[in-house]
Amino acid sequence: MIKKFETFYRHIIEQERKFPEATGQLSDLINDIALACKVVSLEVNRAGLIDIIGFTGTKNVQDEEVKKLDVYANEILTHAMRMGGHTCAVCSEEEESFVPIDEVYTDYSHKYICHFDPLDGSSNIDANISIGTIFSIYRRISARGPGTIEDCLQHGYNQVAAGYVVYGSSTILVYTAGSGVHGFTLDPSVGEFLLSYENMQIPKKSKIYSANEGNYVKWSKGMQNYIDYLKSDDIKTERPYSSRYVGSLVADFHRNLLYGGIFMYPADRKNKSGKLRLMYEANPLAFIAEEAGGRATDGKQRILDITPVGLHQRVPLFIGSEEDVINAEKFLAG
Ligand code: AHG
Ligand code: MN
Ligand code: MN
Repeated sequence: MIKKFETFYRHIIEQERKFPEATGQLSDLINDIALACKVVSLEVNRAGLIDIIGFTGTKNVQDEEVKKLDVYANEILTHAMRMGGHTCAVCSEEEESFVPIDEVYTDYSHKYICHFDPLDGSSNIDANISIGTIFSIYRRISARGPGTIEDCLQHGYNQVAAGYVVYGSSTILVYTAGSGVHGFTLDPSVGEFLLSYENMQIPKKSKIYSANEGNYVKWSKGMQNYIDYLKSDDIKTERPYSSRYVGSLVADFHRNLLYGGIFMYPADRKNKSGKLRLMYEANPLAFIAEEAGGRATDGKQRILDITPVGLHQRVPLFIGSEEDVINAEKFLAG
Protein backbone atom coordinates (compact mmCIF):
# COMPACT_ATOMS: atom_id res chain seq x y z
CA MET A 1 0.00 0.00 0.00
CA ILE A 2 1.34 3.41 -0.95
CA LYS A 3 1.43 5.78 2.00
CA LYS A 4 0.63 9.47 1.91
CA PHE A 5 3.67 11.55 1.12
CA GLU A 6 3.36 14.17 3.80
CA THR A 7 5.85 16.09 5.90
CA PHE A 8 5.38 16.61 9.62
CA TYR A 9 4.92 20.35 9.24
CA ARG A 10 2.24 19.98 6.58
CA HIS A 11 0.46 17.44 8.76
CA ILE A 12 0.30 19.66 11.85
CA ILE A 13 -0.81 22.64 9.77
CA GLU A 14 -3.62 20.55 8.26
CA GLN A 15 -4.67 19.34 11.69
CA GLU A 16 -4.74 22.91 12.96
CA ARG A 17 -6.84 24.10 9.99
CA LYS A 18 -9.68 21.99 11.38
CA PHE A 19 -9.93 24.59 14.17
CA PRO A 20 -10.77 27.93 12.54
CA GLU A 21 -9.95 29.87 15.72
CA ALA A 22 -6.39 28.49 15.81
CA THR A 23 -3.62 31.04 15.28
CA GLY A 24 -0.96 28.64 14.00
CA GLN A 25 1.19 29.18 17.10
CA LEU A 26 0.86 25.61 18.33
CA SER A 27 1.92 24.22 14.94
CA ASP A 28 4.94 26.49 14.92
CA LEU A 29 5.83 25.49 18.46
CA ILE A 30 5.62 21.76 17.74
CA ASN A 31 7.66 22.33 14.62
CA ASP A 32 10.34 24.11 16.67
CA ILE A 33 10.52 21.04 18.92
CA ALA A 34 10.85 18.76 15.88
CA LEU A 35 13.69 20.90 14.53
CA ALA A 36 15.51 20.79 17.87
CA CYS A 37 15.08 17.00 17.93
CA LYS A 38 16.64 16.72 14.46
CA VAL A 39 19.70 18.50 15.85
CA VAL A 40 19.75 16.12 18.84
CA SER A 41 19.37 13.17 16.46
CA LEU A 42 22.49 14.26 14.54
CA GLU A 43 24.44 14.51 17.75
CA VAL A 44 23.19 11.11 18.94
CA ASN A 45 24.44 9.58 15.68
CA ARG A 46 27.85 11.21 16.15
CA ALA A 47 28.17 10.26 19.80
CA GLY A 48 30.08 7.07 19.15
CA LEU A 49 32.59 8.92 16.94
CA ILE A 50 33.64 11.41 19.55
CA ASP A 51 36.68 9.42 20.70
CA ILE A 52 37.72 8.57 17.13
CA ILE A 53 37.63 11.90 15.30
CA GLY A 54 39.86 13.80 17.65
CA PHE A 55 37.69 14.72 20.57
CA THR A 56 39.63 14.27 23.77
CA GLY A 57 38.59 14.31 27.40
CA THR A 58 35.89 16.86 27.95
CA LYS A 59 37.15 19.30 25.27
CA ASN A 60 36.58 19.09 21.50
CA VAL A 61 38.96 20.23 18.73
CA GLN A 62 37.76 23.81 18.98
CA ASP A 63 38.72 23.64 22.66
CA GLU A 64 35.04 23.74 23.56
CA GLU A 65 33.58 21.62 26.30
CA VAL A 66 32.14 18.34 24.96
CA LYS A 67 28.76 18.24 26.59
CA LYS A 68 27.03 15.17 27.85
CA LEU A 69 24.21 14.37 25.43
CA ASP A 70 21.47 14.94 27.98
CA VAL A 71 22.84 18.37 28.85
CA TYR A 72 23.25 19.16 25.14
CA ALA A 73 19.67 18.06 24.33
CA ASN A 74 18.36 20.18 27.19
CA GLU A 75 20.19 23.26 25.93
CA ILE A 76 19.03 22.83 22.32
CA LEU A 77 15.40 22.36 23.32
CA THR A 78 15.41 25.28 25.77
CA HIS A 79 17.11 27.51 23.19
CA ALA A 80 14.55 26.55 20.52
CA MET A 81 11.72 27.41 22.91
CA ARG A 82 13.29 30.71 23.95
CA MET A 83 13.87 31.82 20.36
CA GLY A 84 10.57 30.45 19.01
CA GLY A 85 8.55 33.04 20.90
CA HIS A 86 5.56 30.85 21.78
CA THR A 87 6.66 29.59 25.19
CA CYS A 88 6.59 31.47 28.49
CA ALA A 89 8.28 28.74 30.56
CA VAL A 90 10.23 25.56 30.01
CA CYS A 91 10.38 22.74 32.56
CA SER A 92 12.97 20.03 32.14
CA GLU A 93 14.13 16.93 33.92
CA GLU A 94 17.61 18.46 33.65
CA GLU A 95 16.70 21.71 35.44
CA GLU A 96 16.09 22.08 39.14
CA SER A 97 13.34 24.64 38.66
CA PHE A 98 11.35 25.91 35.69
CA VAL A 99 12.95 28.36 33.26
CA PRO A 100 10.76 31.47 32.82
CA ILE A 101 10.94 33.05 29.35
CA ASP A 102 10.38 36.70 28.43
CA GLU A 103 8.30 37.63 25.44
CA VAL A 104 10.43 37.67 22.27
CA TYR A 105 7.94 39.23 19.87
CA THR A 106 5.18 41.68 20.61
CA ASP A 107 2.69 40.79 17.88
CA TYR A 108 1.38 37.72 19.69
CA SER A 109 1.52 36.35 23.20
CA HIS A 110 3.81 33.50 24.24
CA LYS A 111 1.01 31.40 25.59
CA TYR A 112 2.46 27.89 25.99
CA ILE A 113 4.41 25.92 28.60
CA CYS A 114 6.71 23.06 27.57
CA HIS A 115 7.93 20.15 29.65
CA PHE A 116 10.80 17.99 28.45
CA ASP A 117 12.64 14.85 29.26
CA PRO A 118 15.43 15.94 26.89
CA LEU A 119 17.16 12.56 26.81
CA ASP A 120 15.30 9.55 28.08
CA GLY A 121 17.20 6.31 28.56
CA SER A 122 20.45 8.20 29.07
CA SER A 123 22.16 5.22 30.70
CA ASN A 124 21.85 3.43 27.32
CA ILE A 125 23.72 6.06 25.27
CA ASP A 126 27.15 4.43 25.34
CA ALA A 127 25.75 1.00 24.45
CA ASN A 128 24.17 2.21 21.19
CA ILE A 129 20.69 1.35 22.46
CA SER A 130 17.65 3.45 21.51
CA ILE A 131 17.08 6.61 23.51
CA GLY A 132 14.63 9.48 23.06
CA THR A 133 13.14 12.88 23.87
CA ILE A 134 9.70 13.33 25.45
CA PHE A 135 7.70 16.59 25.32
CA SER A 136 4.46 17.91 26.70
CA ILE A 137 2.67 21.21 26.00
CA TYR A 138 0.16 23.18 28.10
CA ARG A 139 -1.57 26.50 27.61
CA ARG A 140 -0.57 29.10 30.21
CA ILE A 141 -2.99 30.08 32.98
CA SER A 142 -1.48 33.44 33.92
CA ALA A 143 -2.27 36.39 31.66
CA ARG A 144 1.12 37.71 30.63
CA GLY A 145 4.82 37.99 31.42
CA PRO A 146 7.16 35.06 32.04
CA GLY A 147 5.39 31.84 33.10
CA THR A 148 4.79 31.00 36.76
CA ILE A 149 4.93 27.77 38.77
CA GLU A 150 1.09 27.58 38.58
CA ASP A 151 1.37 27.60 34.78
CA CYS A 152 3.85 24.73 34.99
CA LEU A 153 2.07 22.53 37.53
CA GLN A 154 -1.12 21.64 35.66
CA HIS A 155 -3.02 18.37 35.52
CA GLY A 156 -2.07 16.04 32.67
CA TYR A 157 -5.59 16.30 31.29
CA ASN A 158 -4.83 19.95 30.42
CA GLN A 159 -2.13 19.00 27.91
CA VAL A 160 -2.79 20.42 24.46
CA ALA A 161 -0.13 18.29 22.77
CA ALA A 162 2.49 15.71 23.67
CA GLY A 163 4.96 13.55 21.85
CA TYR A 164 8.28 11.81 21.78
CA VAL A 165 11.17 11.15 19.44
CA VAL A 166 12.99 7.81 19.44
CA TYR A 167 16.60 7.88 18.26
CA GLY A 168 16.75 4.26 17.18
CA SER A 169 17.44 2.29 14.02
CA SER A 170 15.70 5.28 12.49
CA THR A 171 14.57 8.52 14.15
CA ILE A 172 10.82 8.50 14.72
CA LEU A 173 8.56 11.26 16.03
CA VAL A 174 5.16 10.39 17.49
CA TYR A 175 2.73 13.08 18.65
CA THR A 176 -0.84 13.87 19.54
CA ALA A 177 -2.62 17.19 19.71
CA GLY A 178 -5.88 15.53 20.74
CA SER A 179 -6.87 14.33 17.25
CA GLY A 180 -5.28 10.91 17.15
CA VAL A 181 -1.69 9.75 17.40
CA HIS A 182 0.54 10.09 14.37
CA GLY A 183 4.08 8.90 13.67
CA PHE A 184 6.76 10.28 11.35
CA THR A 185 10.09 8.86 10.30
CA LEU A 186 13.06 11.14 9.71
CA ASP A 187 14.46 10.87 6.19
CA PRO A 188 18.04 11.97 6.90
CA SER A 189 18.79 12.67 3.24
CA VAL A 190 16.17 15.43 2.98
CA GLY A 191 16.07 16.25 6.69
CA GLU A 192 12.28 15.89 6.93
CA PHE A 193 10.03 13.87 9.19
CA LEU A 194 7.65 12.02 6.82
CA LEU A 195 4.29 10.55 7.84
CA SER A 196 4.74 6.83 8.44
CA TYR A 197 1.96 5.91 10.92
CA GLU A 198 -1.43 7.63 10.73
CA ASN A 199 -3.97 7.29 13.55
CA MET A 200 -2.00 4.78 15.61
CA GLN A 201 -4.07 2.45 17.80
CA ILE A 202 -2.59 0.26 20.50
CA PRO A 203 -3.99 -3.31 20.55
CA LYS A 204 -6.52 -3.71 23.40
CA LYS A 205 -4.82 -6.85 24.70
CA SER A 206 -1.21 -7.84 24.32
CA LYS A 207 1.30 -10.64 24.80
CA ILE A 208 4.21 -8.48 26.00
CA TYR A 209 5.16 -7.11 29.41
CA SER A 210 7.96 -4.68 30.17
CA ALA A 211 9.27 -4.24 33.69
CA ASN A 212 12.62 -4.27 35.47
CA GLU A 213 12.15 -7.67 37.04
CA GLY A 214 15.39 -7.29 38.96
CA ASN A 215 13.26 -5.35 41.43
CA TYR A 216 10.94 -8.34 42.03
CA VAL A 217 11.88 -8.86 45.70
CA LYS A 218 11.15 -5.19 46.44
CA TRP A 219 7.66 -5.27 44.89
CA SER A 220 4.35 -5.62 46.70
CA LYS A 221 2.72 -9.06 46.86
CA GLY A 222 0.07 -7.94 44.36
CA MET A 223 2.72 -6.87 41.84
CA GLN A 224 4.65 -10.11 42.30
CA ASN A 225 1.45 -12.10 41.79
CA TYR A 226 0.70 -10.23 38.58
CA ILE A 227 4.15 -10.98 37.12
CA ASP A 228 3.86 -14.64 38.21
CA TYR A 229 0.48 -14.75 36.44
CA LEU A 230 1.92 -13.32 33.20
CA LYS A 231 4.66 -15.96 33.26
CA SER A 232 2.43 -18.95 33.86
CA ASP A 233 0.86 -21.21 31.27
CA ASP A 234 -2.65 -20.70 29.86
CA ILE A 235 -3.59 -21.11 26.21
CA LYS A 236 -6.87 -19.19 26.48
CA THR A 237 -5.25 -15.97 27.71
CA GLU A 238 -2.12 -16.50 25.56
CA ARG A 239 0.19 -16.90 28.52
CA PRO A 240 3.04 -16.94 29.19
CA TYR A 241 3.63 -13.39 27.91
CA SER A 242 6.94 -12.37 26.36
CA SER A 243 9.22 -10.13 28.37
CA ARG A 244 10.75 -7.11 26.59
CA TYR A 245 12.63 -4.43 28.51
CA VAL A 246 14.95 -1.96 26.81
CA GLY A 247 15.40 0.27 29.85
CA SER A 248 14.56 3.38 27.80
CA LEU A 249 10.95 4.24 28.51
CA VAL A 250 10.40 5.83 25.07
CA ALA A 251 11.68 2.74 23.26
CA ASP A 252 9.66 0.33 25.43
CA PHE A 253 6.56 2.49 25.06
CA HIS A 254 6.97 2.84 21.29
CA ARG A 255 7.30 -0.90 20.77
CA ASN A 256 4.22 -1.53 22.92
CA LEU A 257 2.26 1.13 21.02
CA LEU A 258 2.98 -0.73 17.78
CA TYR A 259 2.65 -4.35 18.91
CA GLY A 260 0.60 -4.06 22.10
CA GLY A 261 2.08 -4.42 25.56
CA ILE A 262 2.07 -3.25 29.14
CA PHE A 263 4.94 -1.21 30.57
CA MET A 264 5.24 -1.09 34.35
CA TYR A 265 7.43 0.85 36.72
CA PRO A 266 5.73 0.15 40.05
CA ALA A 267 6.38 1.52 43.50
CA ASP A 268 8.69 -0.67 45.54
CA ARG A 269 9.89 -1.02 49.08
CA LYS A 270 12.62 1.58 48.53
CA ASN A 271 10.92 3.91 46.04
CA LYS A 272 7.43 4.49 47.36
CA SER A 273 6.43 6.47 44.26
CA GLY A 274 8.31 4.44 41.70
CA LYS A 275 10.98 6.05 39.56
CA LEU A 276 9.41 7.86 36.64
CA ARG A 277 8.48 11.52 36.59
CA LEU A 278 4.87 12.63 36.34
CA MET A 279 5.44 15.82 34.34
CA TYR A 280 8.19 14.73 31.96
CA GLU A 281 7.46 11.04 31.38
CA ALA A 282 4.12 9.74 32.69
CA ASN A 283 1.77 12.57 31.61
CA PRO A 284 2.89 12.93 27.98
CA LEU A 285 2.93 9.17 27.39
CA ALA A 286 -0.42 8.79 29.18
CA PHE A 287 -1.98 11.38 26.85
CA ILE A 288 -0.61 9.49 23.83
CA ALA A 289 -1.67 6.09 25.22
CA GLU A 290 -5.25 7.24 25.81
CA GLU A 291 -5.47 8.91 22.39
CA ALA A 292 -4.36 5.58 20.89
CA GLY A 293 -7.06 3.66 22.79
CA GLY A 294 -4.80 2.52 25.63
CA ARG A 295 -4.73 3.20 29.36
CA ALA A 296 -2.32 4.73 31.87
CA THR A 297 -2.65 4.63 35.65
CA ASP A 298 -0.49 4.60 38.76
CA GLY A 299 -2.11 1.26 39.60
CA LYS A 300 -5.20 2.94 41.04
CA GLN A 301 -5.69 6.36 39.57
CA ARG A 302 -5.66 7.70 36.01
CA ILE A 303 -2.27 9.36 35.44
CA LEU A 304 -3.84 12.41 33.74
CA ASP A 305 -6.00 13.09 36.85
CA ILE A 306 -3.10 13.18 39.33
CA THR A 307 -2.69 16.59 40.95
CA PRO A 308 0.95 17.62 40.55
CA VAL A 309 2.65 18.95 43.66
CA GLY A 310 6.20 19.30 42.35
CA LEU A 311 7.91 19.53 38.98
CA HIS A 312 10.04 16.44 39.62
CA GLN A 313 7.34 14.37 41.29
CA ARG A 314 7.57 10.62 40.70
CA VAL A 315 4.66 8.24 40.10
CA PRO A 316 4.24 4.49 39.67
CA LEU A 317 3.35 3.85 36.03
CA PHE A 318 1.23 1.15 34.35
CA ILE A 319 0.73 2.02 30.71
CA GLY A 320 -0.21 0.38 27.43
CA SER A 321 -2.87 -2.05 26.22
CA GLU A 322 -6.13 -1.32 28.03
CA GLU A 323 -7.13 -4.84 29.09
CA ASP A 324 -3.67 -5.59 30.44
CA VAL A 325 -3.51 -2.40 32.50
CA ILE A 326 -6.98 -3.10 33.95
CA ASN A 327 -5.87 -6.61 34.84
CA ALA A 328 -2.70 -5.31 36.53
CA GLU A 329 -4.84 -2.94 38.62
CA LYS A 330 -6.95 -5.90 39.80
CA PHE A 331 -3.87 -7.76 40.98
CA LEU A 332 -2.48 -4.67 42.72
CA ALA A 333 -5.77 -4.17 44.56
CA GLY A 334 -5.21 -7.69 45.93
P1 AHG B 1 16.24 9.07 32.18
O1 AHG B 1 17.32 8.55 31.28
O2 AHG B 1 15.48 10.20 31.54
O3 AHG B 1 16.70 9.40 33.56
O4 AHG B 1 15.10 7.94 32.33
C1 AHG B 1 15.45 6.63 32.67
C2 AHG B 1 14.20 5.87 32.97
C3 AHG B 1 13.43 5.30 31.81
O5 AHG B 1 13.83 5.64 30.54
C4 AHG B 1 13.52 3.82 31.98
O6 AHG B 1 12.30 3.23 31.68
C5 AHG B 1 13.89 3.63 33.41
O7 AHG B 1 14.56 4.78 33.80
C6 AHG B 1 14.77 2.45 33.62
O8 AHG B 1 15.00 2.30 34.97
P2 AHG B 1 15.73 1.00 35.58
O9 AHG B 1 17.15 1.10 35.15
O10 AHG B 1 15.52 1.16 37.06
O11 AHG B 1 15.01 -0.21 35.03
MN1 MN C 1 13.46 9.58 31.34
MN1 MN D 1 16.25 12.10 30.98
